[in-house]
Parts: sequence; structure tokens; C-alpha cells
Amino acid sequence: MKRVFSGVQPTGNIHIGNYLGALRQFVELQNDNECIYCIVDMHSITLPQDPKELRKHTLDVAALYMAIGLDPKKSTIFVQSDVPGHAELSWVLTCNSYTGELSRMTQFKDKSKGRESAPTGLFSYPILMAADILLYDTDIVPVGRDQKQHIELCRDLAIRINNKYGQTFVVPDGRFLKEGARIMSLDEPMKKMSKSAENPLSRISLLDEEGKIKKAIMKATTDSEGIIKFDLENKPGVSNLMNIYSSFSGISVEDIEKKYEGCGYGDFKKDLVQVTSEALRPIRENFEQIRHSQELLNVLNEGAEKANAIAEKTMARVKETFGLGISKK
Ligand code: AMP
Ligand code: TRP
Repeated sequence: MKRVFSGVQPTGNIHIGNYLGALRQFVELQNDNECIYCIVDMHSITLPQDPKELRKHTLDVAALYMAIGLDPKKSTIFVQSDVPGHAELSWVLTCNSYTGELSRMTQFKDKSKGRESAPTGLFSYPILMAADILLYDTDIVPVGRDQKQHIELCRDLAIRINNKYGQTFVVPDGRFLKEGARIMSLDEPMKKMSKSAENPLSRISLLDEEGKIKKAIMKATTDSEGIIKFDLENKPGVSNLMNIYSSFSGISVEDIEKKYEGCGYGDFKKDLVQVTSEALRPIRENFEQIRHSQELLNVLNEGAEKANAIAEKTMARVKETFGLGISKK
């Protein structure tokens, strides 16, 4: 069995792009692999957060993990800051990384753009991410394509340390999603659907009620041609809606074209509202049930315990490699 590790930051507005692009494959992987899924709250504080909101969002994402079908009997679910090994290993990796390689990270360049001075945590964000992965002897990391550069850095660090100090880390592979899994913004279909876009109708959040889903889809940008045809270049709005329809229903894009031949956008959109609402309803219902339950806290406590047991073993090995620490507990 391969070990799988991935993480999501606890920020609000987890949307259908996150789900169809990333979270859905977490569920698929749990049947044939040993999966560990983390809510990476320490990554969130690379930018200022309201402490109460951060805790709330951490529990929201944990509940969402379970609502979409992650099964705590199969997958370990836990919160990053509950396992001290992440920060500990992060320091060891920091001492084996170069400022040059971190300066080349495009996410850092994007996020620090326009700021007078960037927080150090934002700069070393990819090292903490590498620590998350290496701490669990991870084989496979399912993530969106935007994380490819970070995975490369993680591999470089592991290989560098293995070569210099002897075999210490498993070198992981990224598992990247197909380009087709990119869900675009509903109002500006040339842009990626995003958590932070100003217009709430640009996205459908996983917990949106039917009324909001309807409003967002009926207002979604299309074109004046009135033909349901998949053509990313010339019909990005319609193609994006078809992509969403296909992802939720399992009906291929070609079959959607056939089904809606001669129909207008109005009919197609009405059906898409229904397909999307039906897909999200069980997630919302599961979420409501689990979010304020004792079960959720139990899952996170047990998850942290299991994660800690693995992390402590890795840290003992890392300390041995580097000659750190004297006292034995
Ligand atoms: P983030 O919003 O950066 O926290 O993303 C969490 C995960 O969702 C990452 O693996 C992203 O690659 C993926 N993701 C984010 N936005 C989209 C989108 N519009 N379409 C598909 N995947 C996405
Ligand atoms: N950086 C990832 C993102 O923004 C989140 C993340 C943190 C992560 N640590 C990780 C993903 C470890 C995979 C493995 O989506």
C-alpha cells in the first residue's frame, strides 16, 4: 500500500473548483492507499488571521472532509498544529535550503507582490509544506497543478539530505490533476474559480443553498450564439458550465452536446442547477450533522494521535541523521 498525504488550508469558501479539482480525488484514493489528510492551519498564519475565525474554519474544513466522504476508519484526518513534528522538521529543512531556491517560487512572488516587506513565513511556506510531506514517509501527494513547484522543492530537499547524510527521507511523487479539472469563474470564465474573488456569484461554495446555486448559474456568463457546444477557446463560459455538468453527472461532454442539441442556454442552465444542487445537497446535509458533533472532535483527536505516532518515529530518525538531541523520553 502506498502512503498518500495532502492538505488544505482552513480558509472559508471552499468551492466546487476545490472539490472537483482536488478534494474528490482524496476520497477516491482512500480505498487502495494509506491516506493522511491534514488541515494545514500553520500555513494559514503566513498571512494574518482572526484567531476565532481560524478555529472555525479549521473545524469547517475537517467537517467538509468528512461530509464529502472521507472515512476516518480508512483515512487519518488531523490538524497540522496538533502535531509538533511539522514545525520541528521544518527547521531542519530550513537549514538545508537556500534563499535562492525559495525566491524562485511563483506563489511567493504572487503573494508578496505589492507588499513593502513580505512576512518570513510566506517565504518559507514551501519548507513547511515539504516538512508536512516528508514527516509521513509519503509516496504520493495529490494536489492541483499550481502546487507542482512546491512538490519539486520538497523532492529536491529530500534528495539533497539523503545524498549528503545518508538515506533519511522517502522521495515523494506529486499526483497532479488533469487540466480538464480546472473549474473557471462563473462571471469571468477566463479566470480560475477562486475563494477570494469579490463577486460571490463567481463561485459556488460547497455549502451553498439551492437559491444561491440557482442565482449563480442563471447569471453565469455565456455568449450570444445559443448553441451548447464544448469549445474552450471560443466559448469559455458555456464550456465551463458543461465541464461542471459533466463532472457532477458523469455524463460525457459529447453526450451533453447531443442531449441539448437545439435547446437554448436557459433550459441547459436550469438542468445544471438541478444537477449541481443534487450533488451538493448530501454534502451540505452531512456537514450540518457533523460540524458541531462530538464525533468530529473525536476524529481529530484520534487523527492527531495516529499522525503523532508516525511523526515521532520520523523525527527520531532525523535527529539521529543530524546528531540532534541527547535525552531519551
Ligand atoms: P486553494 O484554494 O489554493 O487552497 O486550493 C486547494 C486545492 O484546490 C488545490 O489543490 C488547488 O489546486 C485546487 N483548486 C483551487 N482552485 C481550483 C479551481 N478553480 N479548479 C480546480 N482546482 C482548484
Ligand atoms: N500549499 C497547499 C495549497 O495551497 C496546501 C498544503 C500545505 C499541502 N501542505 C501540504 C498540500 C502538503 C499537499 C501536501 O493547496
